[in-house]
Amino acid sequence: MSLNIVILAAGQGKRMHSAYPKVLHPLAGRPLLGHVIDTARSLHPAGIVVVYGHGGETVPEAISGADLAYAKQEPQLGTGHAVMQALPTLKKLVPQLGPADFSLVLYGDVPLTRAASLKSLVEAAEAVQGLAILTVDLPNPTGYGRIVRNSVGAAQDVHGRGQIIRIVEQKDATAAERAITEVNTGIMAIPTARLAGWLERLSNDNAQAEYYLTDIVAMAVADGVKVTSAQPAHVWETLGINSKKQLAELERLHQHNIADALLEQGVGLADPARIDVRGLLSCGQDVSIDVNCVFEGDVVLGNDVVIGPNCVLKNVRIRAGTIVNAFSHIEDAEIGAHCRIGPYARIRPGTQLDEHVHIGNFVEVKNSQIGAGSKANHLAYVGDSTVGKQVNIGAGVITCNYDGVNKSRTIIEDGAFVGSDSTLVAPVTVRAGAYIGAGSTITREAPAGKLTLTRAKQTTIDAWKPPVKKPKV
Ligand code: UD1
Ligand code: CA
Repeated sequence: MSLNIVILAAGQGKRMHSAYPKVLHPLAGRPLLGHVIDTARSLHPAGIVVVYGHGGETVPEAISGADLAYAKQEPQLGTGHAVMQALPTLKKLVPQLGPADFSLVLYGDVPLTRAASLKSLVEAAEAVQGLAILTVDLPNPTGYGRIVRNSVGAAQDVHGRGQIIRIVEQKDATAAERAITEVNTGIMAIPTARLAGWLERLSNDNAQAEYYLTDIVAMAVADGVKVTSAQPAHVWETLGINSKKQLAELERLHQHNIADALLEQGVGLADPARIDVRGLLSCGQDVSIDVNCVFEGDVVLGNDVVIGPNCVLKNVRIRAGTIVNAFSHIEDAEIGAHCRIGPYARIRPGTQLDEHVHIGNFVEVKNSQIGAGSKANHLAYVGDSTVGKQVNIGAGVITCNYDGVNKSRTIIEDGAFVGSDSTLVAPVTVRAGAYIGAGSTITREAPAGKLTLTRAKQTTIDAWKPPVKKPKV
């Protein structure tokens, strides 16, 4: 069997009230279409064709891949018309169509469908060598296409229901048809060899003057091709997004699923309703995460890592036993074992901390390596620096890494002590065990094991008197 996947993503999404194409709006930090493409890829299809239109080239420009083909639909004349635009690409992908070749139609604005549900749909199509529709039963089916079956008593499907004979859209349905609660999710597996013939016969003689993909169901029945259905494990897998409200609802649902999976693996979450994972979060044993944390990109937390409330971590690896206190922001960094970060720490890209490093409140570290046991506990900027082991960086220390044009590095060797409120003007080196007196501006190398300081002499003016207020004239 060869499986091809057609993703419909040409629609406008008027109700998003946005200048951006609907399928590029993010869910869990990724475009809606990105989620659908990921799921499509997990089925290992021979090809994936994305039908785009509204928003012009922004969609193919935003999401590309060697395994993705794009077909443009302009104007957008309905779901059947959309699949028609994919046909030439499909034919190129599978030049020799056999009866066991299927095309799976997905929607670019339905992001949470699980691969297992799609597999069972494709298997249902294969089993009857015909067309299979993913359907759900909804207490309120308003707006959806209804699955019309022949009366029970005639041929029945495996669930004892009548055979599917056609799909009728809400706007074309009679009152009796509108009472049907089984609806078309829009996701179908179609024998590819039949597709062109059916699409050619579509007409737009209906309430919306559109070419409905759903009309191929009655054609299949007329041609003696078996039509069957499959159901997803959860209704939410088939929910589409038409508005910001629906986007926010699916985001919460998705986050809840992620939180459940983390709890299931033994991760401690203070509140599963207050965590956002926008990427991949992998945790060791006995990790605990307080409320309102955001994890973006790839985040890996070692055993016993504790993340305090209101932290943002993006593309970070943290080794075992480290504590990140409240309100810390860490991006593109590697944090060693048993470190203590925050509260209110900012760790920027290119930073590597060895074990037992302390980075305290209002300390910013950028593109720096800091050796084991070193500390910068309060109010400091460490940028473009190489810091050795057991270094003490006092409160208010600043590495002046930028001369307005170029960036330069600061090197602070093992065991050095940099007194509070010192500025280290890079490029500059503080040798091992050097002491820098508080308030110094260091522009040349500070030798090992000695006290270096730059400081105006302290004087006291004995004759000084406090100012006196002048009388008013
Ligand atoms: C469609 C189905 C309906 C089903 C419902 C599920 C048809 C005729 N109707 O209705 O049976 O219950 O989905 O949500 O198929 N699209 C294009 N080009 C177009 C039109 C649509 O790419 O010209 C894309 C949209 O971007 C969207 C998908 O196809 O991703 C569905 O379009 P939409 O307008 O939402 O279909 P409905 O009318 O809701
Ligand atoms: Ca829709």
